[in-house]
Amino acid sequence: MTAVDNQTITTLVTLRTLQKYKSQHDRFACLTAYDASYARLLAAAGVEVLLVGDSLGMVIQGQTNTLPVTIADMIYHARCVRRGSPDTLLIADMPFMSDMTPIQALGNASRLLAEGGANVVKLEGGARLLDTVSLLAGRGVPVCAHLGLLPQSVNKLGGYSVQGRDAQAARQIVQDAQDLERAGADLVLLECVPNALAEEVVARLKIPVIGIGAGPSCDGQVLVVYDMLGITPGKPPRFVKNFLADYGDVQQAVAAYVEAVRNGTFPAPEHCFK
Ligand code: KIV
Repeated sequence: MTAVDNQTITTLVTLRTLQKYKSQHDRFACLTAYDASYARLLAAAGVEVLLVGDSLGMVIQGQTNTLPVTIADMIYHARCVRRGSPDTLLIADMPFMSDMTPIQALGNASRLLAEGGANVVKLEGGARLLDTVSLLAGRGVPVCAHLGLLPQSVNKLGGYSVQGRDAQAARQIVQDAQDLERAGADLVLLECVPNALAEEVVARLKIPVIGIGAGPSCDGQVLVVYDMLGITPGKPPRFVKNFLADYGDVQQAVAAYVEAVRNGTFPAPEHCFK
């Protein structure tokens, strides 16, 4: 990003940009966004990747989890974010049960790209997604595979807890990440896993890995924007830092997050899991 006469000029961020960052060991910043105003502000502060997460069910709609979010909700919010930020890489979540078969996933993913303006779709799951990822990749739909804590499986998991702590679960996550890369995934997002496991995944994959609660070794970091601004009520998860607490305004807080991700000071040990 270059600043000229107080105006911010952004350059287009693509999957190739992220791949280049990974090869140069440069970290990149990602935040969730759900509307045009935040998207514009985040992009101007230097955030390279915006995620229209199905967390919108909780932080925008006030639901207790992400399960009620529909594909129509996702398209609506992706479109708003795209209008506010034409140049960032835009990832949009495939909502709960929108990928029950590879064909259904292809139909919904193509709507997120064509109607929502997303560049990449994110799907939660491991081995079950191999055929789906391979179909999407073959049809030119970029995929981010979400591993570790899968919020759409909250009922099965019985809560939001750290994943991959025992040896077998850790091996499964590494195996899933490698298989999904081979199937054609372009990115992996790792949520709530011990640092050492994330390090292994990052080292074994050629594609960039975005972490949330996955430690400092990830190629990029993501947080829910309302969490890092201290807006979300209740006790924040361990991996969240409130960047607004130290800064006078939202733009400065987001710029501080971007800088902390790039220079490796966020996440710090107190935001990580063993
Ligand atoms: O929906 C979301 O915001 C996400 C992040 C928690 C990574 O998937």
